[in-house]
Amino acid sequence: MSEQNNSGSDRVVLNVDNLRIHYATPQGDVIAVSDISFELYEGETLGLVGESGCGKSTTAYGILQLVQPPGYIVHGSIEVEGTEVLDLTEEELRKFRWTRLSLIPQGAMNSLNPTMRVKNQIIDVIESHEGKANYESFKERLKVFLRKVRRPRRKESLRKYVGEWLRNLSVLLRYEPLKERIYDLFQQVGLPNRIFNMYPHELSGGMKQRVCIAMGVALHPTVVIADEATSALDVVVQRIVAQTLVEVKDEIGVSLIVIGHDMGLLAQIVDRIAVMYAGKIVEIAPVENVYANPLHPYTQLLIDSIPSIKERKPLKITEGITHDPRNPPSGCIFRLRCPFAWDHCALEEPSQITVEEKHEVACHLFDEQFEERRSNAFAAIANS
Ligand SMILES: Nc1ncnc2c1ncn2[C@@H]1O[C@H](COP(=O)(O)OP(=O)(O)OP(=O)(O)O)[C@@H](O)[C@H]1O
Ligand code: SF4
Ligand SMILES: [Mg+2]
Repeated sequence: MSEQNNSGSDRVVLNVDNLRIHYATPQGDVIAVSDISFELYEGETLGLVGESGCGKSTTAYGILQLVQPPGYIVHGSIEVEGTEVLDLTEEELRKFRWTRLSLIPQGAMNSLNPTMRVKNQIIDVIESHEGKANYESFKERLKVFLRKVRRPRRKESLRKYVGEWLRNLSVLLRYEPLKERIYDLFQQVGLPNRIFNMYPHELSGGMKQRVCIAMGVALHPTVVIADEATSALDVVVQRIVAQTLVEVKDEIGVSLIVIGHDMGLLAQIVDRIAVMYAGKIVEIAPVENVYANPLHPYTQLLIDSIPSIKERKPLKITEGITHDPRNPPSGCIFRLRCPFAWDHCALEEPSQITVEEKHEVACHLFDEQFEERRSNAFAAIANS
């Protein structure tokens, strides 16, 4: 895909190409992600939407190489600023995660360790990459410092003595910079310093989610993927946490993928939206296009399903993905639910068609040769 993004930069930081992920089951492979391609630009927020089971989380895990058996990556390429993630060794991947690519997983706030204080969970993330700062044993370090501090030896150069003294002091003082760094993180995500010593169960849901965001951005990664980061929260807190996510993103200059169901919420925070259906990206476009001019029949259903208090609309989405994910239909993945499907849709899989600048859709209706059919279909929508 070649479009520039709404965030202004045209530098691609993440390039996902032809990624396919399966889960092996005794009845055959579940095709969770089916040959998807997209780009993420520097400083951009991309929304990834689609109904439950369409492959959003699997895509996120795939990008970070965290797909667990029986899941496996069949093929594809994932490049972060020119580095092919699929070629990294385990050790390289370990360093890559959190520092270049970071995931705030679905349900993250419930997976915070209940027996560890907040500070220690964040310190674990930092220390696992930057080495132990010996944070907990400040008293120990003080003892070592006092033991090591000595008078200058006779004939010892002053330079050597002061150098050693400063080195010992810096080991002792590593306590403060780490603490200050965590306080800075707290400030960025809107948490009070008093939670430093608290346990997760002492925090509200919104606070726990902010701790997860703090952990996700602690090492200033290039790309952060937030999988349903707000969906377990009440509506007001959802919006506040989503806003926090975007503010932190702007402050530290990361690129963000936000996975979610709430089209209303996403409309307010993302630059572009990629719509997924049954493992495929069926439409990708700047957010304003998706809402004002949704093109793919599935995107139209999604937009139509956004509740409105001004106008009572009949619910058009009545069921989820209808086919067996081990045995998808031939041709277009959406054809079993599509009100406009015709013979051709069963014969050939639609490719991504660029319909206007920055707007791509995978539907035969946008193939020039079917223009008349498209006009009729759209006229039918207008009259419905
Ligand atoms: N361990 C597994 N074994 C078999 N199939 C799996 C496994 N994990 C996920 N799947 C299947 O892979 C598909 C994609 O799942 P995934 O969790 O990525 O969807 P999702 O879009 O994140 O859904 P949700 O919105 O509910 O979080 C689904 O059909 C799911 O049933
Ligand atoms: S290709 Fe055919 S079945 Fe698929 S969305 Fe377009 S019209 Fe519907
Ligand atoms: Mg999910």
